[in-house]
Amino acid sequence: MIIGGSSSQDLAAHVACELGEELCYVETKKFPDGERYLRVDGPIDEEVTVIQSTGYPQDENLMELLFMIANLKDLGAKKIRVVVPYMGYARQEKRFNPGETVSAKIVCELIQSAGADEFITFNIHEECVLDFFDIPARNVSAMPAIAEYLDKKFFKKGDDKPFIIAPDKGAYGFAQEISEIIGCDCTYLTKVRLGPDKVETKIVDVRCDSESDNTVNVDSVKGMHAIIVDDIIATGGTIVNAIKILKQYGAESVDVCCVHPILANNGATRIYAAGAGKIIGTNSLSSDTSRVSLAKSIADALRD
Ligand code: R5P
Repeated sequence: MIIGGSSSQDLAAHVACELGEELCYVETKKFPDGERYLRVDGPIDEEVTVIQSTGYPQDENLMELLFMIANLKDLGAKKIRVVVPYMGYARQEKRFNPGETVSAKIVCELIQSAGADEFITFNIHEECVLDFFDIPARNVSAMPAIAEYLDKKFFKKGDDKPFIIAPDKGAYGFAQEISEIIGCDCTYLTKVRLGPDKVETKIVDVRCDSESDNTVNVDSVKGMHAIIVDDIIATGGTIVNAIKILKQYGAESVDVCCVHPILANNGATRIYAAGAGKIIGTNSLSSDTSRVSLAKSIADALRD
């Protein structure tokens, strides 16, 4: 039995269809004072899977997730698998400055103590967050789903193969995953973060996938069909810089992919204004850019 929280209802319905499982409806609302109400509609199975992303509004979605898990346990569920396609607070996995709250640790402890028996998420920013759980916890990659979308729905027959670009070295693994599936080249840019919403990107150090030819002259950007890929687009600063530098060196087209399209502070508008053709995100978070469904990837993870 699949149960979707209010941030992931449609995704949960699609997962239920993929698996041929029953979807259990949940009634959620807010009382006039802002408190949350949650009611599971109907009898529940002994084994249930809860699907709920904890993006904006993070605290409400997290509280709803905790209510759901604890309520299902209380109603008799024996095994609760928890799928959080986008996990809020995961980027504070340590104290970057003295006295900071390690939010990711607290969130994991809350999910576990509410009654979760297993945890699954997608492209979590730091995999070490999963070590905060004592229950089995898995990080699944959405890159195969994104690659399949690009291959089937994005490229037209006869199009030149694109160049997959990671906007920083940390994202290079994602670019490699996608380029291997599609069968094209990939590279990465260098990025220095100057603040939460300020980054500097350079193209001079771009490296090519192949060991034998591991530098790309900036001239090779000319005429390139670039697809930038990252795990998260938060404010869009990283992507805007990457687009600008690729355009500056003559890229013919630049499209953008990500797993988690947070797109805070009008991120999408700024990315389009920088010259992006399309932004392709997954439905880990609902947005106008959520073109790739994670339903099959979640179903496959649940079958494992
Ligand atoms: C960080 O290294 C991540 O992979 C993303 O690049 C980052 O979270 C994006 O943040 P923003 O969109 O605010 O630049």
